[in-house]
Amino acid sequence: MRIYDTIAKKRDGLTLTDEEIEFFVEEFVKGNVTDYQASALLMAIYIRGMDIKETSCLTKAMAHSGDMVDLSKINGIKVDKHSTGGVGDKTTLIVAPIVASFGVPVAKMSGRGLGHSGGTIDKLESIPGFRTALSEEEFINNVNSINFALAGQTGNLVPADKKLYALRDVTATVESVPLIASSVMSKKIAGGADAIVLDVKCGSGAFMKTLGDATTLAKAMVQIGTELNRKTVALITNMNEPLGEYVGNSVEIKEVLTTLKGNGPEDLTTLCVELATHMLILAGKGSEEEIREKVKEKIKNGEALDKFMEFVKAQGGTLDIDGTNLKVASNTIKIKAGHKGYVKAIDTEAIGIATVLMGGGRLKKEDTIDYSVGLKINKKIGDYVDEDTDIAEIYTNKEDNEEIINKIQTAYNYSDELVKKSDIIYNIIK
Ligand code: URA
Repeated sequence: MRIYDTIAKKRDGLTLTDEEIEFFVEEFVKGNVTDYQASALLMAIYIRGMDIKETSCLTKAMAHSGDMVDLSKINGIKVDKHSTGGVGDKTTLIVAPIVASFGVPVAKMSGRGLGHSGGTIDKLESIPGFRTALSEEEFINNVNSINFALAGQTGNLVPADKKLYALRDVTATVESVPLIASSVMSKKIAGGADAIVLDVKCGSGAFMKTLGDATTLAKAMVQIGTELNRKTVALITNMNEPLGEYVGNSVEIKEVLTTLKGNGPEDLTTLCVELATHMLILAGKGSEEEIREKVKEKIKNGEALDKFMEFVKAQGGTLDIDGTNLKVASNTIKIKAGHKGYVKAIDTEAIGIATVLMGGGRLKKEDTIDYSVGLKINKKIGDYVDEDTDIAEIYTNKEDNEEIINKIQTAYNYSDELVKKSDIIYNIIK
């Protein structure tokens, strides 16, 4: 078989066979298919697409390209969650301790930031001493003892995704339904989950900008999960504005603590309650209404917060209950609206990029993150502002912040007419 012929076939819009897809994944991981050949095939897939059978075959081949985590030593139904990536998305760190506080095991593999979107592993590493590289033994022991462990994608787990992702990031081939679906689902399958809740982000800060594209992605992932005997549910959620109020690393951990204390922003709290509810339904914990009330109770009675603190300690982190030992850059700059009217839209990707430019994310793979920088969003869609209203504030260590301030100011769009706030959840695909 020649990879050249597979590239040409997809370039011409034809359907690939299982053998062709498996050959590509295996030979690419071995290094026999070069990066430039893989990039050409990725671009052909991006432009021509893949049907569900091809996408499912690609997912399976990627999942089996390295080690498969065996979670059989953990009792109970292991439910995982995955977000397709957004701005201000700290839901895992709120949802996982809620679910674990019900006695349901959460064995979570998370990623680093990607492009304009933040990553859970980076956020956790802003906690002094926190370790995200755990041996399989420690990972399983922690899940067995406290019901929750979280690790980065270490070792030989889905090497095909690691290599393909790095290429997609620099070849403008991220925003593709078959490529995102196979990337996400291969990691969930290899990670050993029995059931999966997906948070498919939709809007200006997501990879899927329209509801149509997000729905297609959600349906593809649910179908792949079901085909592979994993109960899978996808929530399509609003990413037309940052989630919650804070974007960054330390500042998002602080917002996790606030939310687990019951004082979080409404959009973030509602989404976390819904994600946790759907994870617990898949774990067989009861009816939707019953579970939802119990989830709210776990926040109110402090059990979810206690579980988060227990988890941080178990992974070596030192964190006080108000997050006062987390470093936040002391140079605060308030950003004025410079306009009068109702906030109509926010270019959320630009807000994510502004955070990256401050050093809160990576521009190159090898960049180190400044965990102390970030921003607070004071005004969201539907809010009224006048010229002097502070729409946001940044916490920065940079000398020159003009580009960042400008990016945030121009990310906001205003209207003279009243603007309705959007719901946080658009749809649920089962
Ligand atoms: N998250 C992933 O893990 N993969 C993608 O392709 C996009 C978001």
